[in-house]
Amino acid sequence: VHDPLLPGLDDAALAAILADAADRAAALWLARRRPGQAGTGEPAALPGPGEAPLPLAALAAELTGMLAAATPSGADPLDFAHIPSTGNAAALVADWFAAALNVQTASAALAPHGVALERAVIARIAAFLGYGQATGGLLTGGSSLANLVALTAARDAALPEAGRAGLAGTAPVRIYASRAVHACIGRAASVLGLGRQALVDASAQDPDHIDPEKLQGLVQADRAAGRRPLAIVATVGTAATGAIDPLDELAVIARQERLWLHVDGAFGAAAAAIEPPLATAMAQADSVALDLHKGLFLPYETGCLLVRDAGALAASFAFTADYLAAPEDARDPMQLGPELSRGLRALRIWATFRCIGEARLRAALCHCMDLAHWLHEAVASSALLEAAAPTRLSIVCLRLRGSRELATAHADALHLECLRRLADGSAAMRMSAVRHAGRIVLRACFVNPRTRRAEVQQLFERLESLAGDVMGITGHPPPVTS
Ligand SMILES: Cc1ncc(COP(=O)(O)O)c(C=O)c1O
Repeated sequence: VHDPLLPGLDDAALAAILADAADRAAALWLARRRPGQAGTGEPAALPGPGEAPLPLAALAAELTGMLAAATPSGADPLDFAHIPSTGNAAALVADWFAAALNVQTASAALAPHGVALERAVIARIAAFLGYGQATGGLLTGGSSLANLVALTAARDAALPEAGRAGLAGTAPVRIYASRAVHACIGRAASVLGLGRQALVDASAQDPDHIDPEKLQGLVQADRAAGRRPLAIVATVGTAATGAIDPLDELAVIARQERLWLHVDGAFGAAAAAIEPPLATAMAQADSVALDLHKGLFLPYETGCLLVRDAGALAASFAFTADYLAAPEDARDPMQLGPELSRGLRALRIWATFRCIGEARLRAALCHCMDLAHWLHEAVASSALLEAAAPTRLSIVCLRLRGSRELATAHADALHLECLRRLADGSAAMRMSAVRHAGRIVLRACFVNPRTRRAEVQQLFERLESLAGDVMGITGHPPPVTS
């Protein structure tokens, strides 16, 4: 095959280069699973326009140097920050094959096997999570897009003309969620032309959960004022604390008030696989968004939307075009969401179910929850730290004991200092700072099944030591408990 993009390389030469690249990529992946791999390297400069291209044979070596210390790794068992993706080797192999295949899964006409695979894995995910009534869904890059697609369907179910005619002349729309709802929901409201102000805070004293009574009052008041209640967005696993909205009560209200019940389960929906009551509650939702790259150990850009009525997605997104004149399948992914060009995300999910299997996925989920609860207990009985929120799922929020008596700005600065010192030095560990009830607290998230109790113990001991140090700086010695 003559390739004018990379001339002078026959199949044998290319095969050798690709095999070397696969070896090096594998070594990189293996290294990033070890503790303490968080690097600070700079990306290599892009070549100038007139510069001679690098020979392909030298690329893998250059990438190895460039990426070795490039970015902190979510696969590092000492990375407890954000909600990282750990990835898994089955998915990595599948991604290599998906990249080699390079198919376009917009439609079954373009990628019959890829689209069939996508439908099969969506059904499998739904069954795994007990969301048995899913009639369809969509793989997306992440939950921001999955949530946007769900809210588009919710909007069009209530206002069937909105997609065509816009919202001019319609009553202001309302979407209800807790104060802890993810920012992507407000952004979705904005993208959909509903306006960010459509998103209404339905939590009361407790900012992490929708208050059903308050919600009911808001819906009634909104109707009385001529506004249009549209949807409830219940979060399963808020980004800050892992809190779960009261789904059963929300489902009753949604039915009574004819509101679309959407679950943003980006992080937490995976827990339905090990918590049957959560699965039963979640199954009442009209739609569920989740990130398999958060909760189910897949690599990045593995988001998913499950819907009770796939027809609702088609109602919002189906299109015809002169450039697609041949008959198409109405269930094609491009008819169910806003993306046209899309790769073969399904293969890595298929490989994960094939090689890891449901039992080990469940065991890994349980392990992550156990780590979180172990840390919570250790913190709760520490003289230097205290829990800052109930531990739900595998997120632990904690603060320096005694810091609540300090002014907010001062306490915030101490927590940020703690975070900085934690990430410093040879035993670097990473946590996140989140604002909870108006004050910064530290958050550890456990989504890495390779993290062991020993690493969590290490984190706890380091945090206790830092707590003593930073509270000492302020002249507020840590309180002594008997
Ligand atoms: C609760 C929740 N919803 C939505 C998102 C957005 O998901 P993504 O980053 O995959 O777009 C996140 C991301 O952390 C999240 O935690």
